[in-house]
Amino acid sequence: VEKDGTRVFDLRMQAGEKEFKSGRKTPTWGFNGDYLGPTLRAERGEKVKVRIANGLDEASTVHWHGMHLPAAMDGGPHQMVGPGGKWAPRWKIDQPASTLWYHPHPHGQTEQHVQRGLAGMFLLDDEKSAALDLPDAYGVNDVPVIVQDVTFDGAKFDHGHDFLRNTGFLGDRTMVNGTLNPYQEVGDELVRLRLLNASTARVYDFGFSDDRDFALIGTDGGLLEKPAAMDRVQLSPGERAEIVVRMKPGEKTVLRSFPQDNYGGAWQTRFSGGADSFDVLELRAKQSLRDSPELPVQLGELEVPDGSESAKERFFGLKMSGINERPMDMDRIDEVVTRGTTETWTVRNDDGMPHNFHVHDVQFRVLEVNGEQPPPELRGAKDTVFVPGATTVKLAMRFDGPADPDTPYMYHCHLLSHEDGGMMGQFVVV
Ligand code: C2O
Ligand code: CU
Ligand code: CU
Repeated sequence: VEKDGTRVFDLRMQAGEKEFKSGRKTPTWGFNGDYLGPTLRAERGEKVKVRIANGLDEASTVHWHGMHLPAAMDGGPHQMVGPGGKWAPRWKIDQPASTLWYHPHPHGQTEQHVQRGLAGMFLLDDEKSAALDLPDAYGVNDVPVIVQDVTFDGAKFDHGHDFLRNTGFLGDRTMVNGTLNPYQEVGDELVRLRLLNASTARVYDFGFSDDRDFALIGTDGGLLEKPAAMDRVQLSPGERAEIVVRMKPGEKTVLRSFPQDNYGGAWQTRFSGGADSFDVLELRAKQSLRDSPELPVQLGELEVPDGSESAKERFFGLKMSGINERPMDMDRIDEVVTRGTTETWTVRNDDGMPHNFHVHDVQFRVLEVNGEQPPPELRGAKDTVFVPGATTVKLAMRFDGPADPDTPYMYHCHLLSHEDGGMMGQFVVV
């Protein structure tokens, strides 16, 4: 902590190696370690500064996914940190308690840098949510669950592409927090899982092996208004969900990803990995469990606009070849947004291939999916939304950060090989 109260974090990107189950060493990258990075945590209203050091021999960036912050601090492709270089962005946390994350964003190489292991969680807290009776003992009954798919070819950590799978890399196993065959011991009746899909291309439909219900309490940008009882929650790359599961003494259940059928066609589903099923994380309850208070009936208040005061509508057509038929150009500003206004963005999948859509700096409300009310997992604050084939989503967002006509924010498909391939555009707030 600095004199003026600024909370300071140190992150060093470094090369390492990791011994996975095979017993063989695999070269990896991590923040302050061999693989992934520490969970950063700050409170609403707090000033933060992150001292980034690049200990790699390649340039990269660190982007704060889901964070509302000035464009120059965003860590997008314009804020490159060279090998041996340093960068120290600072900003004030000005958004609700939520599960955010950080990862590199170098233009054209994001998939590779994330897959090598550069990613971590950034948790935000606020007074209102701290006053709620929710499981909040980090690592005990409030557990980060970073899900990534990987392939092990002997000692090789495979970064290659299967030519049929044009959504990008699809691994044949999953890891949680960098661990294969993971399990979590549970000592409380209620356990909260903060699910992050940090995979580069794979979409998961999470549920439990015994189909038990769980409570969805939060989405990308924070808590829902009320818990929603569900038995599945679908997350495309970059999306988060906070769920609370009830356990009985001595029992086991497995968080699993189930086959999906909403990719816009059976062929597309199959070749995009939608037909696959994975055991993701086993929960093992102890023989005696601490009592947990009932979940609150009312959680947060959504701070995302309802779309009723939209100053401008924009349209984004998603295609492999580019958004609105334009491949990403670092020197072109695609959209100019007026600060302090609310906009509605309609995003349509124009080529049948599964895509999603992520917007920097803001959290948005999903107003409609194909003209209808969104499902519960899309009813909270979101910064990333799945847009499979034959899907159109309508989003409302408010731009209230500082104006900076010279530094763009990004919007893009978060299937990282698509992003790298040009499915990205730039907007400035003026
Ligand atoms: Cu998580 Cu622009 O990225
Ligand atoms: Cu982002
Ligand atoms: Cu895409």
